Amino acid sequence: MIEKKYPVWLDVDTGVDDAAALLVASRLTQLDIRGISAVAGNVELEHTFANTRNVCALAGLHVPVYRGADKPLLRPLCTAAHVHGFDGLGGVVLPESDALVETLPAWDALYAEAVRQRGELQLIATGPLTNLAIAFSKYPDLPGLLKRILIMGGSSKEGNDTPAAEFNIYVDPHAAQAVFKCGAPLVMCGLDVTMQAMLLPDEIEAIGRSGRIGRFFRDSTKKALAFHQANGTPGMCLHDVCPVLYLTHPHLFQGQEAGVYVETQGTVTLGKTVTDLWSDFQFPAKNAFVVLDVDRSAFASLIRDLLTAG
Ligand code: RIB
Ligand code: CA
Repeated sequence: MIEKKYPVWLDVDTGVDDAAALLVASRLTQLDIRGISAVAGNVELEHTFANTRNVCALAGLHVPVYRGADKPLLRPLCTAAHVHGFDGLGGVVLPESDALVETLPAWDALYAEAVRQRGELQLIATGPLTNLAIAFSKYPDLPGLLKRILIMGGSSKEGNDTPAAEFNIYVDPHAAQAVFKCGAPLVMCGLDVTMQAMLLPDEIEAIGRSGRIGRFFRDSTKKALAFHQANGTPGMCLHDVCPVLYLTHPHLFQGQEAGVYVETQGTVTLGKTVTDLWSDFQFPAKNAFVVLDVDRSAFASLIRDLLTAG
């Protein structure tokens, strides 16, 4: 039987869990990765762009990588270097990619690919949503050309970067609002599920003993693991792997449709994704499928199998 391949585009702010998502995606034969775009987020764009290129080279992923936005639409950039290291890869230095350096801006490349895929392209975004918002502003017909958008971002309850907001949404709440309002089918993998989607230290160590890819995964996530452990989480939350595996292995996850709006005016609540999952009041439209749970053991086993395969 011929395996169905899904044309996808990845928009990332490579950091260590984005790197894990790229490695996992590169091993999933169901994915036809058409392009990758980098955005400022975990660290500055110069690092996220270089990191994305270098992780692709490590993974043997020969896919064009495009530069996107170096700052949010309206707010100053705030990074997460305290989690990902100043360089974004936990201090691990990778060999520099010798791939052609693409000069087309991310939003132009993304639009051209969406047109080429005639409604079949799925967009996975694991960083602040600035590139998507710019693309939608320049090409208003782009949301209608996308089969689905799957993001790592938001939370139906507590935040992480602030008590109310998850990092990707908090960095650029105005861009996030544009995505939640764009009308394309949307899957939100927020902290509800990604804080469950962790690998435990012994699981990481087992992957680390398996070869070059595994060693990079283990070494690059050391700092972030220590950050999680210091904050009471026993493992490394692979936030950004969730939308990737939701696309190929949806049966590992549970969730429900909801109305979701982004707070862009608040001070204490800026960047909060407000959902109607738990309220009597229901928003007029269910604009997102909010992923709430994952089979952690199966999630961890699948990642181990993918990252340790020869
Ligand atoms: O809140 C977690 C998200 O913020 C992840 O995408 C991580 O890479 C950071 O970007
Ligand atoms: Ca990310």
